Amino acid sequence: EIDSTNSKAYELAMEGAEEGEVVVAESQTRGRGRLGRQWFSPPYVNLYLSIILRPQIPPHQASMMTLMAAVATAEAIQSSSGLRPTIKWPNDLLLSGRKVAGLLNELHSEADQIHFIILGIGVNLNTEVRMFPKEIRGKATSLRIEKGEGVSRKEFFQTLLKTLENWYSIFFREGAPAILNAWRGWANLQGRLVRITSFGDTLIGKAIDIDSDGALILETMDGKQRRILAGDVEYSGE
Ligand code: BTN
Repeated sequence: EIDSTNSKAYELAMEGAEEGEVVVAESQTRGRGRLGRQWFSPPYVNLYLSIILRPQIPPHQASMMTLMAAVATAEAIQSSSGLRPTIKWPNDLLLSGRKVAGLLNELHSEADQIHFIILGIGVNLNTEVRMFPKEIRGKATSLRIEKGEGVSRKEFFQTLLKTLENWYSIFFREGAPAILNAWRGWANLQGRLVRITSFGDTLIGKAIDIDSDGALILETMDGKQRRILAGDVEYSGE
């Protein structure tokens, strides 16, 4: 048990831990989600891990690591369950419209150099509906719920590390376009009507695409395009 694998990995990275070091926990007492939220992290059923990366890339490309990790997680989910998840911007993984995995990536950098990135990934593998707190029961799911049978945590962990390693090397070999194209394939975002909550504002419009910074390009009702850097998306009419 640990407070948060991301906090531990950050601490280790500050002390000089090498790229590729992984922190994995049986449970978290303060599992952290995006935008200051908590991540439900009960023992024995799921996977909570954080990986230390030290990519030699400019800080403005750091968001490619998040997109890369979302693609790798989607692929691991599909190959270990046969179910096809969708990625919901910025980096939620959904099955049947409910969240099955989330990513929290944290960056430590100076203006022109990345010191390290912590890739934090939580995947609901074997949670049962009754285990979820009431507030998230309608919004969360697990591979077990969707598939009707349990998933080996050890095998899923191995698969995920392999897909991550593969997509990380694809990024260095082929560059950002390969990651963006794969992300687009899982997200199926272009042209959809969305409602976005971002820093207290609600915006409605048509999703055009994501750009190489991972920002969502939204066309609002007045025909203008806006770049959204953070927030939550809902698909209208679903
Ligand atoms: C989100 O969707 O809001 C992101 C959730 C990220 C959860 C994972 S679990 C492992 C790692 N450690 C944390 O404290 N958070 C991430």
